[in-house]
Amino acid sequence: MVVAIDGPAGAGKSTVARALARALGFTYLDSGAMYRAVGLVTLREGGAASERAEELDLQLGDRVIANGEDVTEAIREPEVSEAASRVATNPKVRAALVKKQRELLAAGDWVAEGRDIGTVVAPGAAVKVFLTAGPEERARRRAAELGTDPAMVLRDQALRDAQDSEREHSPLELAPGAIEVDTTGLDVDEVVKRISELVAAAR
Ligand code: CDP
Repeated sequence: MVVAIDGPAGAGKSTVARALARALGFTYLDSGAMYRAVGLVTLREGGAASERAEELDLQLGDRVIANGEDVTEAIREPEVSEAASRVATNPKVRAALVKKQRELLAAGDWVAEGRDIGTVVAPGAAVKVFLTAGPEERARRRAAELGTDPAMVLRDQALRDAQDSEREHSPLELAPGAIEVDTTGLDVDEVVKRISELVAAAR
């Protein structure tokens, strides 16, 4: 089965999805890492992002290996976040990555997180969650993670939120049948527990 977790930057998707996958014994799919890898390779090599996406050789796991190089840390740099959000507006990039994601999700049990898992990649997912939190809380979490200034993160985040929600192709939006979970003031264990209950009910 597939558990789809979508939502904006800093809502806690990665932390929650990873912990949930571990608790359930499912495999974790970080679709954002794929857009980040395409953003990074395009920044470095230039050329058409769609071609970089189509030819990308990507291994996802504890480490992210793109075209043979360990890019686990490099893809988290702020300029790569921006590049990821930019290449993610390109329908050809999305088509290439969605194809890879669907191939992975076709077999086995998954917790997949991103922006369009419940709407586009796996609309038939057994459980769909839309994870949110207030913008200040999201920026605070991300700044703590990166060790940077919350005000700067809040500014970058607002830009990326707008780009992700307003783009023409697969914008970030609540999927039909998705359950919205506001994580403001909740810790990871509480969120994981709530989603685990939804999974148990869907089984
Ligand atoms: O970790 P954070 O939520 O900040 O971002 P991410 O999930 O790593 O995704 C980085 C960027 O990739 C997002 O800003 C989106 O523009 C894009 N993305 C997307 O368009 N569709 C997905 N399924 C996942 C990410």
